[in-house]
Amino acid sequence: MTSLLVRGIAELVTNDPTLGDRSPLGLLTDAALVVEGGRVAWVGTTTDAPAADAVEELGGRAVIPGFVDSHSHLVFAGDRSAEFAARMAGTAYSAGGIRTTVAATRAASDEQLTAHVAKHVAEMRRQGTTTVEIKSGYGLTVRDEARSLAIARAFTEETTFLGAHVVPEEYADDPDGYVRLVTGPMLAAAAEHARWIDVFCETGAFDADQARTILAAGRAVGLSGRLHANQLGPGPGVQLACELGLVAVDHCTHLDDPDVSALGDAGTIATLLPGVEFSTRSPYPDARRLLDAGVVVALASDCNPGSSYTSSMPLCIALAVREMGMTPAEALWSATRGGALALARDELGRLTPGSPAHYAVLDAPSSVHLAYRPGVPLVVDVRGGSYSPT
Ligand code: NIG
Ligand code: FE
Repeated sequence: MTSLLVRGIAELVTNDPTLGDRSPLGLLTDAALVVEGGRVAWVGTTTDAPAADAVEELGGRAVIPGFVDSHSHLVFAGDRSAEFAARMAGTAYSAGGIRTTVAATRAASDEQLTAHVAKHVAEMRRQGTTTVEIKSGYGLTVRDEARSLAIARAFTEETTFLGAHVVPEEYADDPDGYVRLVTGPMLAAAAEHARWIDVFCETGAFDADQARTILAAGRAVGLSGRLHANQLGPGPGVQLACELGLVAVDHCTHLDDPDVSALGDAGTIATLLPGVEFSTRSPYPDARRLLDAGVVVALASDCNPGSSYTSSMPLCIALAVREMGMTPAEALWSATRGGALALARDELGRLTPGSPAHYAVLDAPSSVHLAYRPGVPLVVDVRGGSYSPT
C-alpha cells in the first residue's frame, strides 16, 4: 500500500480533543498527515513526521475534515427562483411551495433527476463536503418516492425516506389516507433504498400523532428516525424526537425552555440549517442558547429549491458565526464532527489514525478564515469521500 505524507499544514483540524491544543477541534500547527489505503495513518507535527512513499507540501495551508452535510433534498426538478424573489419583496415563505417542486419532479425522467443530483453533489464537493445525506420528498407517490431514493442511493449511503414531506394535492381531502399510503405501500417500496425515515412535523404538514405513526412504521422495517421540527413556529416535534430518542432533530428554530432541556437530557442532536433563515429572511435559531445548555449542535445546508438553495457548508459556517452566536471553532466542529454524529457515523468528521482520509485543503492559514472570509472559495482541494461525485 502506498503512503502519502502531506506536510506544511499550517493548521490541521483533527476534531480529536486528545490531540494538539486539546480543544474540541484538536488543532495541530505546523502539522503533517500520513494517508495510507484511504485512511489516516498518522497525524502530528511536521518535524516528527515519518517517511512515506510520496510527499505533498502544502506550503502553509489549513486542512480540515471534509464537511458532513447531514441534511439535503437534492432529488428535485424545476426552479423556484421567482418564489425567492417574491419573498425578498415581502411575501412570506410557505411550505405549500413544496407542491410546485413535486409537480416538476414527477414530470422529470430518471436521467434528468440523476443528472441534477450529480451536478449538486459535485458542487458540494468543490466546497469541501465529503459526506452528504439526501432525502426524497418531492415525489409523494409510491413510484416517485422509490425512484427518488434509488437515484439518491447511487450517490450516498445516507438516504432518507421523506414521503411525509407534505400531503400532496390529490390527498388534500384525505390526509389520513395519505399517512396510510406512506406507512404502507410507499414505505414498502422505499425501504430498500433508505437508511433513515423523516417527517416534516409542522403546522400545515404532519402533526405529532401522524409523525409518531410514520416513524414507528419506519422503525418496524429497520429505518432510523429523524424529524424536521420547530422550523416555522413552536410545535411538538422537538419533544417527540427527544421522547423517541432520535439521533437528530433538524431546524430547531423555534424552541421553548422545555425543548432545550429535553434536547440536552435526551442527547438528541439539534441540526441547525442557517441557509433556511437566510433564504426565507427569518430569525435564525439561537445556537448559543443550545450550546450553553449542553446540546450537541450540527450544521447542515438543507439544500433544496424552496427554503435554502445553497450547497455551501462554508456559507452555513459563516452565517452560524455571524448570526447564531457560534464561535468559528464551534461552527466548524458542528459542520464536520457534528454532522457525522447526526448521521451516527462515528468514524467520520475527524482526522485521526484509522479514520477515513476525507479532508479539504483551504487556501488559508487557519480554519477561522471560513467565517472570516465569507463568500470566498477557500477550498482548493478535496480528498476522499463517502459518496461518488459523478
Ligand atoms: O427542510 N421543511 C420542509 N422541507 C424543506 C423545504 C422544502 C421546500 O420549500 O421545497 C426544508 O426547509
Ligand atoms: Fe429539510
